[in-house]
Amino acid sequence: MEKIVILTGAGISAESGLGTFRDAGGLWAEHRIEDVATPDGFARNPALVHCFYNARRVQAAQARPNAAHMALARLQAEARAEVVIVTQNVDGLHEAAGSRDAIHMHGELSRALCAACGHRWQAALSMSERDTCPRCSAHACRPDVVWFGELPYRMEEILDHLAGASIFAAIGTSGQVWPAAGFAQEAACAGARCVEINLEPSAVSDDFHKVLRGRASDVVPGWVAGVLSGNGS
Ligand code: APR
Repeated sequence: MEKIVILTGAGISAESGLGTFRDAGGLWAEHRIEDVATPDGFARNPALVHCFYNARRVQAAQARPNAAHMALARLQAEARAEVVIVTQNVDGLHEAAGSRDAIHMHGELSRALCAACGHRWQAALSMSERDTCPRCSAHACRPDVVWFGELPYRMEEILDHLAGASIFAAIGTSGQVWPAAGFAQEAACAGARCVEINLEPSAVSDDFHKVLRGRASDVVPGWVAGVLSGNGS
């Protein structure tokens, strides 16, 4: 069966009200990466890091999927191809739209991880440095998100999917964070046709065969309809 691999980034959730990272006024304009998104930052000030992710968890819990998430769920349900969604997003909007088995390569806000024993569980809406691990009782509870300096999840599986893809689409990602920024090159080497859907040029736009500019909720439904009708990617 043919395989379509989709990579999504913060831009796909922007119209659901969740801020991106690198746009003007984005999360990294207001918070220092070293403080809130690194293992060192967490070791220095776990309360600050929990506070940052608690706010994002509450916001994500209130967000609703938009037309772009819905269109990808439709693609998964209706395509005569295997459709694999790989997301850098830690929100649950692909699942809320009805998508199955999205690969969260940067983890999930809704999950907690014990840094001492590796146990994972459903995160409370508000986590604190005083929480204890339900398995080993350590005071080492952290959001199950991948920080700078840590390895993204499920990379072997993702590279396998890219190697077998006939279409690769990147949606709403600036192409500034690796390894995801290299996925178009990986897929193109394996023979996939690569499409970028983004508001603005990304750092890796040249790696794509086709570029569609616009808001994800405007562009993705039409692109999906084209793929489903066999009118190319
Ligand atoms: N529709 C389509 N694209 C959009 C929209 C929209 N409505 N709004 C913004 N964009 C685009 C921006 O032009 C930008 O290129 O989405 C991209 C968002 O880029 P980033 O903020 O860098 O987000 P992302 O690429 O997902 O970041 C990757 O960086 O810090 C980390 O771990 C975090 O997973 C994240 C990773």
